[in-house]
Amino acid sequence: QEAGRFVAALEAAPLQAALWGDGRQTAFWAYNASLPGPLIELWEGDQLEISFSNRLSQPSTIHWHGLPVPAEQDGNPHDPVPPGAQRQYRFTLPAGSAGTYWYHPHPHGHTAEQAFRGLAGALIVRSRNDPLRHLPEQHLLFSDLKLDADGQVAANNMADLHDGREGQYVLINGAWQPMIPLAQGERQRWRLWNATSSRILKLALPAHEVQLVGTDGGLLAAPQTIDSLLLSPGERAELVVTGRFRDGVPAGLISQPYRRGKMMHAEQQQDEVLAGVMQHGMRPTQALPATLRPIAPLGAPGYRRRIEFSENMADMSAMFLINGRRYDMNRIDGSGKVGRIEEWELVGNAHMDHPFHLHGTQFQVLARTVDGLWEDEPYLAWRDVVNVAAGQSVRIRFVQQLPGLRMFHCHILEHEDQGMMAQIDFL
Ligand code: C2O
Ligand code: CU
Ligand code: CU
Repeated sequence: QEAGRFVAALEAAPLQAALWGDGRQTAFWAYNASLPGPLIELWEGDQLEISFSNRLSQPSTIHWHGLPVPAEQDGNPHDPVPPGAQRQYRFTLPAGSAGTYWYHPHPHGHTAEQAFRGLAGALIVRSRNDPLRHLPEQHLLFSDLKLDADGQVAANNMADLHDGREGQYVLINGAWQPMIPLAQGERQRWRLWNATSSRILKLALPAHEVQLVGTDGGLLAAPQTIDSLLLSPGERAELVVTGRFRDGVPAGLISQPYRRGKMMHAEQQQDEVLAGVMQHGMRPTQALPATLRPIAPLGAPGYRRRIEFSENMADMSAMFLINGRRYDMNRIDGSGKVGRIEEWELVGNAHMDHPFHLHGTQFQVLARTVDGLWEDEPYLAWRDVVNVAAGQSVRIRFVQQLPGLRMFHCHILEHEDQGMMAQIDFL
């Protein structure tokens, strides 16, 4: 089949929405009046052409989180679209890019606010030889809603700026505690997006059978049976869920307590129900292939860097740092070469977890420290977000295939806006 051309328009604008069915209106910012933004579904090889209009009162951009797009098309903070203005984003999806991505604003200093007011949408790239195409699919995009006493989207307070924003409600596809239909014995493919500002979700589906089959950049080499899934802000995953309903067992999607070193917000103490799973008849269990696709390990690196996350509690204006510095749009923090394998050691010299994210390419995690000792990663996967826990180190490898200035940052968006970001120019 031939590659297609996908043309669409995205408009970021204020939106009044009634959330709770009682007529109360809440003011959001949304793409095409939809919360979350419209799903963009494409095929490998497709050419994408988006015309973006900014109807907000702030500059904005659209960043294609996780996709290998040319730097000048990637919604970098250097290319803001002013209020009332418009621009085109154009790029082609290379072979091998099938996976679960998303898009969100990236104007410097306003990313968190624009995202938590509602600007985020899912983007799926499909492959024509997808070994799981026979399975029915569910999409779960998690966002975090924090309301003030008047029922309006709250502004960030000190605790949010410090620990990262957390609200009263975790929404799935814009709804609170929705029901997901699943039959006894049925196999479904679930795509999950953590589009919250700062919640590290530790997800579990007690009773059901769960396999991890994909990460940010697409399928794993083989399914992995898991008990729970840690999904940091910005991160995506693909699961195969097999319905197992037993009498008396609550069959919901829950988030389990996970301590990430917050100082001003309380840590989650108990399991929280994010969605109900509703039994929907019985179905025969479809086969799950033993292998999904080959993933070749990246070879020996041609260049190494050490990237350190740190916090400086004494200085409110430069609290969240990478290699001791706060982001400066006009400073280039290093240069790299297109096509060269890089190995980075990510060091969490910090009290809090900081989920690392790199633009422009996917990486492989080689090893991480657990209680100070290096442990090899048990399987290969393509990712663009990896949590760096307080005191932890993580080793990754990647290659940038396209030239240009690429950001990397903590995906707790409040930290990113306060400068926990840096940039390397790949030539
Ligand atoms: Cu999802 Cu630089 O961002
Ligand atoms: Cu990104
Ligand atoms: Cu952070």
